Amino acid sequence: MVIVTAKQPQLGHARAMRQNMIEYLEALAQQGDCLKIPLFMARGYYLNHPDDIRQILVVKADCFHKPFPVKYAAKGLFGENIFTTDGKLWEVLRQTLQPAFQSQQIKNHSQIMIQASREMVDRWEPGQTIEICQAMMDLTMGITTQAFFGVDLRGKAEGKVLVRFTELFNERISGIPVPAWLPLPVTLELKRYLNQGYKFFNSLIAERRAAKGTYTDILAMILNAQAADETGLITDQQVRNEVSNLFAAGYEVTGNSLAFTLYLIHKHPSVEARLRAEIEQVIGNRPITLDDLAQMPYLECVLKESMRLLPVNTVFARQSTTNVAWADRSIPKNSFILISPWTLHRRADIFADPLAFNPDRFEVKVRSQIPKFAYLPFGGGPRICLGQAFAMTQMRINLATILQQYRLTTAPDYQLVPYFSFNTRPKHGLPMQLEKV
Ligand code: HEM
Repeated sequence: MVIVTAKQPQLGHARAMRQNMIEYLEALAQQGDCLKIPLFMARGYYLNHPDDIRQILVVKADCFHKPFPVKYAAKGLFGENIFTTDGKLWEVLRQTLQPAFQSQQIKNHSQIMIQASREMVDRWEPGQTIEICQAMMDLTMGITTQAFFGVDLRGKAEGKVLVRFTELFNERISGIPVPAWLPLPVTLELKRYLNQGYKFFNSLIAERRAAKGTYTDILAMILNAQAADETGLITDQQVRNEVSNLFAAGYEVTGNSLAFTLYLIHKHPSVEARLRAEIEQVIGNRPITLDDLAQMPYLECVLKESMRLLPVNTVFARQSTTNVAWADRSIPKNSFILISPWTLHRRADIFADPLAFNPDRFEVKVRSQIPKFAYLPFGGGPRICLGQAFAMTQMRINLATILQQYRLTTAPDYQLVPYFSFNTRPKHGLPMQLEKV
């Protein structure tokens, strides 16, 4: 099929994207699988077929890099990191960081995940209504800061700095590129938080170098890799950039994915009943262990289906570095490519009755029928999410521990409105009431 030009929204493409990204993407999906988007001073493409997406993320991955606005913000403000960079530096960073996220390491961190989940539910009071997105982000902060840096930053000044830095970082890399030297209030605020964050990481790194003890957190693994690095690319500044970026990459997305999943479970009583039966059968009232996860296939299906229907990473982008062609497609150099898990996961030809929440789609015997590159909550190809296994392990432990003790419900008139701002979250928050089971 040839590439057709997307209909011009009333506001124009760029403003329509900024006003309501989800509506904008859904309108594109109605028009076809491969669309040209005329943008001001640039050309964009929207690709929504797994075969085309595979070309971008795998087959022709060398012809694409992260888009200019992301790189520009990173270079001017926070420095390059694994998420924003390409080429040799990305390769070295990926090799350096990958071992820290392998199964043995995740096993080492599972105790932190279990303990933090239990402590949270032990603090909850039956009858209480809590903002679940905030609670899940707080839980994620406790887990990631302990697993990554060996300290729990919840409720601490440094934790608040990291959270605000993450919000500003996300805003900046998804917004219009603005020169870092312009003294805009948002830039000044970002620089202030950045300096405070750097101070914290500099002293943490200095402490680690001076300490005799052995550490098993991710910072320790990166420092060991830095010591063995022969390229000279893993400078102290790079280590600092990576640890802060790893936190930023996982904090909001994991928290909001958990919140959406708890909402979907509540809205689907038959799914909830089946999931509770599985949890009851495998762990009953005792604390969960990492080995229990293998005995809880339905929990995994529920989480996967939640990330299909409400993928927090709703859209991601690439930019072509050269003219690229495959089959009957051709994309000129410097074009922006939009790939949207949100619309891809709602293709009726791939996911029958796509708006239905049906975890059985991911049942082991049938999941292989889902075409490759049709399901991308964690992206795909060489740049697939580095924290995928960490996040999947954490979220299953969190969910099982919560459901063991509580039923979470929303008010009867609550309407979930997904809202995109760098990633997707409930527009008006997600208050949930806690009922002891
Ligand atoms: C539910 C949780 C998460 C979701 C849905 C998610 C999703 C994604 C997606 C879609 C990408 C690919 C972006 C692209 O190709 O442009 C990505 C990349 C990445 N994610 Fe995650 N992520 C999650 C959790 C985490 C966690 C916990 C970490 C940290 C340990 C993390 C670290 C990264 C990094 C470093 C990259 C960049 C990899 C590279 O470019 O080589 N993510 N993530």
